Amino acid sequence: MAASAASAAAAPAATRAVKDGALLAVTEKPTAPIEGQKPGTSGLRKKTSVFEGTPNYLENFIQSTFNALGEECKGATLVVGGDGRYYNTTAVQVIVRMAAANGFARVWVGKNGLLSTPAVSAIIRNREGGAAVGGIILTASHNPGGPDGDVGVKYNTGNGGPAPEAVTDAIYECSKAVTALRICSALPDVDLAAEGRTEYFASADAAAPGFVVEVISSTADYEAAVLPCFDVPALRKLVAREDFSFVYDAMHGVAGAYASSIFVDALGADPSCLLNATPLPDFGGGHPDPNLAYASVLVKKLGLTPRGERDEAAAATAPAFGAAADGDADRNMILGRGFFVTPSDSVAVIAANWEAIKQFRDAGGLKGVARSMPTSRALDAVAASLGVPRFVVPTGWKWFGSLMDSKAVYGKEDYTPFLCGEESFGTGSSHVREKDGIWAVLAWMSILAARNAETPIGSLVSVEDVVREMWAKCGRCFYQRHDYEEVDSKGAHALMDTLRAEVAAFKGPREVAGVSFTGCDEFEYTDSVTGDKAAQQGMRLFFADGAGRVVFRLSGTGSVGATIRMYVEMNEKDPSRFNADAADVLAPLVAAAIELSHMKEHTGRDEATVIT
Ligand code: G6P
Ligand code: ZN
Repeated sequence: MAASAASAAAAPAATRAVKDGALLAVTEKPTAPIEGQKPGTSGLRKKTSVFEGTPNYLENFIQSTFNALGEECKGATLVVGGDGRYYNTTAVQVIVRMAAANGFARVWVGKNGLLSTPAVSAIIRNREGGAAVGGIILTASHNPGGPDGDVGVKYNTGNGGPAPEAVTDAIYECSKAVTALRICSALPDVDLAAEGRTEYFASADAAAPGFVVEVISSTADYEAAVLPCFDVPALRKLVAREDFSFVYDAMHGVAGAYASSIFVDALGADPSCLLNATPLPDFGGGHPDPNLAYASVLVKKLGLTPRGERDEAAAATAPAFGAAADGDADRNMILGRGFFVTPSDSVAVIAANWEAIKQFRDAGGLKGVARSMPTSRALDAVAASLGVPRFVVPTGWKWFGSLMDSKAVYGKEDYTPFLCGEESFGTGSSHVREKDGIWAVLAWMSILAARNAETPIGSLVSVEDVVREMWAKCGRCFYQRHDYEEVDSKGAHALMDTLRAEVAAFKGPREVAGVSFTGCDEFEYTDSVTGDKAAQQGMRLFFADGAGRVVFRLSGTGSVGATIRMYVEMNEKDPSRFNADAADVLAPLVAAAIELSHMKEHTGRDEATVIT
């Protein structure tokens, strides 16, 4: 009695003690393996109808994850939250009941079930000194949501990053063998609407709770991780300038939960700067992917055509800066007035301007930069000019996290602070182990703030100016990604095999569709920290002695059929050609790549579904 009174006094006001041992009784429900529960680039993603319509679909995957973690679950803390899509809160309740039955001592759940992907990473790494063993993120990222959309489940490990392949392979193996589900079926639903702590005791006289559920702020830990990376007073000064205006489109994803406290409360922006800032289960019917095709409202507002070209009339009255996020707020798109910044250019510009970012200044500079292989080589040129180590990794954020944690392998070197970026609208740094859409926006605002610290009102150094400056120094990488979506999976694999045969048979340069085809290979990678090997990470075709490059790979994040991604790039050093139209510059490479891959023959398509 005395002990429980003492612990009640020390606990926060919103603690509730529930002393009904029956609630923690574990039910073992028989189940059978379900085919196809193999996590892709970012966890398990399937149509909502598969999750809802297949008995035990979620339960099997969660049990397989816990089985793969084994002893790590015992007495541990797990983070759970998601991007707010349809099925998010249903899944949270199931996961909490299963966590209790699988030996976890505590679960941290985001308020209303909401946590962005970078927020989960920050909570795992920092809350109570990194007390959580890992986290489950309920998101299918940029894929649409709702009953006809997608649902996703992803496990992040103790470093805050996506699980490495050894873990996802183990989960998959467990999913093929799972026969029983462990669930505390009597445990009541978590009240997600209010922050607070509920302690469940196994019996009325138990000294300590057997299981604790804490509903925590969705935003506090994230803000504590991200805001110190930047000079907030300098950002406030930029936002207050009469000649600066900006629009942030949260696309009805979880970024909306963060946008108002960061942009409005911390930076002083007017609430009207925020578009679609209420998280909705179906993202308002939209496709929450921040690119030219899907963020069309923002693109138009910023004075751009759907192809990313400047629309003079609209640009005249457009805001100076625009940005958008995806469903789980880890992606970003950066726009200037009438100007689209390719994600590959974005990371290169941030590297070139690292001195504008407090986090990098405080650390005495960038220690390393990295890009995924299909990302353009703009970053390479900037890294070379700065003398900073540059790494190239396969697609998927987990590979970057590993480099950031690489001190043990690289001896004296410590690759933090680290900057990384991907063509797929992902940018981030070592403040967490996920890409971070809001971090990227604040990084860009920091560049504009630094460049305009002294400029008179009316002479704002613009987004476009900053990008052109990088081109002038390092050349321009014209870049496009062509996606062939929902292609028949057999045809997609046959296309990759055709290119593989091309690599095997390559005898030297030759003309293809009027361009000189000068080399090819298949990208593979060995992670120097975990030793993980990644084979077959993309076919690379080189043209014009390497100035031109086309990469083919199959997407790892789709939920239906296969998606072929074709990444096309041309490096131009001659400033007189910087203003050419990207589509015109790249057209010959596209034609050659279509010919070499036998695209039409394998897929029946001669045009991409989406070009970004
Ligand atoms: C997720 C990952 C990214 C990766 C992207 C690739 O968003 O977090 O790191 O670039 O998937 O998707 P893809 O569909 O090309 O495999
Ligand atoms: Zn995402």
